[in-house]
Amino acid sequence: MGIAELFSGLVPAERLRRNEGLDRHTTYRVGGPADVMCLPETRSELLEVVTTAKVHEVPWLVLGNGSNILFSDDGFRGLVIKIRGSTPADGTLWHLKQDGERLRAGAGVSLPRLAWSAAATGLGGLEFCTGIPGVVGGSIRGNAGAHGSDLGSVLESIELIRPSGDLDTVPAGEAGFSYRKSGIEQGGIVTGAVFRLTPDEPEKVYERIREFTEYRKRTQPSADQSAGCMFKNPEGGKAGRLIDTAGCKGLQVGGARVSDLHGNFVINQGGATASDALRLIDMVRERVFERTGIALELEVRVMKSGVV
Ligand code: EPU
Repeated sequence: MGIAELFSGLVPAERLRRNEGLDRHTTYRVGGPADVMCLPETRSELLEVVTTAKVHEVPWLVLGNGSNILFSDDGFRGLVIKIRGSTPADGTLWHLKQDGERLRAGAGVSLPRLAWSAAATGLGGLEFCTGIPGVVGGSIRGNAGAHGSDLGSVLESIELIRPSGDLDTVPAGEAGFSYRKSGIEQGGIVTGAVFRLTPDEPEKVYERIREFTEYRKRTQPSADQSAGCMFKNPEGGKAGRLIDTAGCKGLQVGGARVSDLHGNFVINQGGATASDALRLIDMVRERVFERTGIALELEVRVMKSGVV
């Protein structure tokens, strides 16, 4: 019996895929196949799928929009659980509802949709999310941020499936947020969250969204394929500036190239492989270290071995 059969019956056949190319599910557009991909729509489907993976010791990981991850060219030996919805719908993992100053959102809601939806209902605080190509779940785990703000600072609580399989709600203050980090334990899955926002005139909120969008267009290669910023900003410094002054802009390995616009983006110029990107990342790290003594830390999750 192949591992896909373990999951058949837990989700409809069209949401269970075998040998699914991960290049189709990542913003960098590279990565070999996952043995199995499952696309649960509800929390109970997700719970059943992940419990089955654990019982049968199938390596698994959760993927959202695939924006902060680089899979290897060999793909992933095990199960990839993709949580991503397009149109918000009650009862799904991409529910989205305003409740006074709160916005309740499922893990699979995209951050730009979250920001626009808040703006439309006259709630401010999520404008920084408009240009972040992630979903609520993954972005909470990595405490995504931009323009001086991050998710940890606008969250009220987080809904989780614990590694034990228990459902839980954690107040944001107890979730261990710091720069691009949360204390959510390995094996825990974010299923949704409640954001606590600030009432404001929609026009003012839209204006801030416009400003941030223009800044990004001017300073980041938004139209190119990338996995987002490759490295975290080191304490007291800026990875993009360090890479730039180390002369790395324009460095290229195969189809992977350090953006000429922003040094912290490795773009796929077409036909890049994961190995191209990884070699380039090593070159950049070495050059920056030689010039500055600073060892840049990856922000993007690199799945080198193809297993968890
Ligand atoms: N800079 C250079 N050369 C470059 C790039 C940047 O000199 O090639 C300089 C800029 O001139 C600026 C400074 O570095 O003075 C900072 O640049 P920027 O304003 O672009 O911000 P950043 O720190 O590089 C951070 C986040 C981005 C987020 C932007 C906008 C990190 C690692 N990056 O970038 O987030 O979009 O601020 O708020 O925290 C991401 O997390 O994936 C990401 C892209």
